[in-house]
Amino acid sequence: PPLETLISSHDFETVASKTLSAKAWAFYSSAATDCVTHRANKEYFDRIWFRPRVLRNMAGPVNMRTTILEERKCRGKQEDVDMPDVSMSAPFFCAPAAMARLVHDSGEMGIAKGCAEKGVVQCISTNASFPASEICGTVSPDHPFLFQLYVNKDRSATSKLLKSFPKSIKAILVTVDAATPGKREADERVRSDESLMTPMSGARAVNDKKGGALGRIMGNYIDPGLNWEDLKWLRKETRLPIVVKGVMSVEDAVMCAETGVEGVVISNHGGRNLDTSPPSLRVLLQLHLTRPDVFGKLDVYLDGGIRRGTDVLKALCLGAKAVGIGRPFLYNLNYGSEGVAHLIDILKDELEVAMKLIGITDLSQAGPQYLDLGESIRG
Ligand code: FNR
Repeated sequence: PPLETLISSHDFETVASKTLSAKAWAFYSSAATDCVTHRANKEYFDRIWFRPRVLRNMAGPVNMRTTILEERKCRGKQEDVDMPDVSMSAPFFCAPAAMARLVHDSGEMGIAKGCAEKGVVQCISTNASFPASEICGTVSPDHPFLFQLYVNKDRSATSKLLKSFPKSIKAILVTVDAATPGKREADERVRSDESLMTPMSGARAVNDKKGGALGRIMGNYIDPGLNWEDLKWLRKETRLPIVVKGVMSVEDAVMCAETGVEGVVISNHGGRNLDTSPPSLRVLLQLHLTRPDVFGKLDVYLDGGIRRGTDVLKALCLGAKAVGIGRPFLYNLNYGSEGVAHLIDILKDELEVAMKLIGITDLSQAGPQYLDLGESIRG
């Protein structure tokens, strides 16, 4: 169907389910074992009600620009960190995802073009289908990117990768929830093209007796020994701010704040790794209720299940600085960069509508007073 007939992120998913190759659909849509966490990520957003306020004069413009990783947040913790002040036209970014070329020849470069046109930040995966320099090189050097790092068992390979980054990369999101890859059965059931390879990690697709999962094979090089001490090692390897991606407990978010990293992504990897991990929004809610001090010490982000402007707004009301969006940025790519730009417009429109209808015109006004938390905490 023509792009202009798609009006929600769900529409992109429906079209992708019918038009992508069997392997691309299996790889992108799959989640671990019974997909409980994957479903719950989205459903948890639907269980929290807004507390909208009325009669507040919503005639003026709405401001949804935001800045992440602000200089101020660093508070002189780490003198050797380049704090970048990444400005974003909306409080969401494209979450890192492997192998975007399975959908469209332009792969991550198509995503980059669509995102740059709309002032949205893209996080490049270590398992991207193109090297970071090529992806960043498709757009203006002023447009900021994030980089998602899987630490290699061969640490010298990681050191070399970190040194190869163009200036457009402003922060490292180190993924810590992949000590071993989850069992993704949809992905296992469809054989892989064994010529597929990721240039930055050198992982190659294979089919074996477990199946043909790209997700499992692309994770083979990741160091399962990664631990808290390694964050100090990483600090020495890069001047970029460090964000820990994949935290699923209040305790680990607190430890991140104590360790002095610049941010944390509350994420269960889109339900792709440990099934029956809690939905991301539930963990954010627990952090908000029990350790509100953490939000002042580092940037808290969330990903998993964001499909609507209302989802973005709920996470922001609970203190998230921004949210990551995963699968929708792959499902839209069968329309190339125009699909990416169109999805961004849809999400921005939805967010603007949600902001006006709860009674705020600027993201700085978002807060828990706009959510009915009494109801939500039960269950
Ligand atoms: C991912 N994700 C991911 N995360 C990461 O840290 N490194 C990676 O290489 C990948 N690769 C990847 C591939 C695909 C196909 C998907 C769908 C996801 C996880 C991703 O960054 C994010 O955490 C989730 O996708 C968020 O959930 P939603 O928005 O897809 O529900």
